[in-house]
Amino acid sequence: MTSGPPLAAWWFQCPRLDYILAILCVALLTTWLSRRKPKSTLPGPRGWPLLGNLPGLGRYPHSSMRRWAAKHGRIFQIKLGRQTIVVLNDPALIRDTFTRPHCDSRPQLVLQTEVLEGDGGLSTSNGARWREYRKFVVCALRQLESAAPNIESRIAAEVAHLVKVIAVTDGRPFAPDAVYGCMSNVMFAILFGARFAHDDADFRRYVRDLRAGYRMSAHLAALNCFPMLARLPLMRRSLQTLSENRRAAHAFIADHVCDHGTVLTDGEQPRDFIDACAMEEHRRRTSGKEDDHFSETQIRYLIGDLLASGIITSAHSVVWGLLLLALHADVQTDVQGEIHQTVGEARAPRVEDMASMPYTAATVWEVMRYRSVLPLGVPHATSEEMQVDGYRIPAGTHVVPFLHGVLSDPAHWRYPDEFNPRNFLDENGNLHRPAAFMPFSLGKRQCIGMRIGEQKLFLLLTGVLQRFTISVPPGTGTPDLRGVPGVTLAPPDFQLCAAMR
Ligand code: HEM
Repeated sequence: MTSGPPLAAWWFQCPRLDYILAILCVALLTTWLSRRKPKSTLPGPRGWPLLGNLPGLGRYPHSSMRRWAAKHGRIFQIKLGRQTIVVLNDPALIRDTFTRPHCDSRPQLVLQTEVLEGDGGLSTSNGARWREYRKFVVCALRQLESAAPNIESRIAAEVAHLVKVIAVTDGRPFAPDAVYGCMSNVMFAILFGARFAHDDADFRRYVRDLRAGYRMSAHLAALNCFPMLARLPLMRRSLQTLSENRRAAHAFIADHVCDHGTVLTDGEQPRDFIDACAMEEHRRRTSGKEDDHFSETQIRYLIGDLLASGIITSAHSVVWGLLLLALHADVQTDVQGEIHQTVGEARAPRVEDMASMPYTAATVWEVMRYRSVLPLGVPHATSEEMQVDGYRIPAGTHVVPFLHGVLSDPAHWRYPDEFNPRNFLDENGNLHRPAAFMPFSLGKRQCIGMRIGEQKLFLLLTGVLQRFTISVPPGTGTPDLRGVPGVTLAPPDFQLCAAMR
């Protein structure tokens, strides 16, 4: 019997099997590595040389983003100039990414460094300063919710004022501009403990400049990707106006910080935000904490930032709400029915009523879903390299939560493109808040004024509808519901008529 080679020798001598084995190993290794190694190139729309996707954004960036999201899925990238921006378009992915420590920074944008000259409020600061401010502001607002007068009664006072302003129009058409004054006064009352007469010249200038600043940042935002545009005369002029307005706003704030009056002692409850700041500054000084986070200048920056973050967002939401209700008489009638049943006519609606008014609560949320005033959220930046959904995202990448995409995704909403409170009601009319409802974003940088924003919208819309039925003046056509895009999605200019009920 001829003895054949041992099996092992045959194994290695047979060239074909050798090749097959090698190929198999390489294939297995590649599959294994590709599972483990983050993918580095995110999908995304093709861009232009130098400009990237800027021309593709068009006049309504959130609409273009929606088209790209439909094509590229829950995570994709766009390029604006040389800047890569990662767009997240899925509630779970936004939640997961924004609760992780390396995605809680804000990018250092040119517009910010040029105009804000590096000032650090809560929404623009990073690192230890941001953590301290965030903890302090969240805690101070919680204390003020139970102070006397509390935040709810400050909002209620402004709603009562707005109702009087509307009553004077006596059915004649009016632009709902007074809402901006009311929302500013709510914030001033919370922060300074004082409100202003709507015809006070400094107050009017403050509100006017704030609105103008938001409008101007729409075209100035291009500077963030193309800083050399700052040399264009139009841009230079706008930057100059923005800086002047900002200086005037700070002088206005400084006057009222100085005029604030008696300083509280330890153990007393703060009456307003300035009290809380002064107490914190005193606590730090006496405990020998050596930093300037609560110096008078920094307190002014902090207050300026809270005013800018809290006024326009809530005022736009309220104005969108008035417009949408004026255009949807059926929804308005149902809300009025619930107000009549739960609150009656003798007293003003209160925040606690919201729990027994599911249709009205659903309407308030639907306003924020249907016309999210920050459709692209506020950008974050990665402070270190991180993996998101299997992709490697380098440090310093801008990350944008596509809130409008999530809030209008047919996968999460029964009526994604309709203004319909039933998006928040089950078959039995019970209220439910889907996980995809995130107009205030999610995670470590989530809006700190979320409760206040919701309360303002509920109290103002119910306060107005308790007294009036609103409509757009006949013959004026339907206002452009696409809104005016910019840093925020502003409502269009329009007029309302309010008939006393
Ligand atoms: C309907 C009203 C409002 C909406 C829709 C809204 C929405 C948002 C959104 C989307 C963000 C970005 C969160 C992120 O970066 O992930 C934000 C941040 C912020 N909001 Fe609001 N907001 C509203 C009202 C307010 C109010 C009333 C205040 C003031 C009390 C406020 C203060 C802030 C601040 C300070 C930040 C920055 C937080 C941080 O960077 O840590 N917001 N808001």
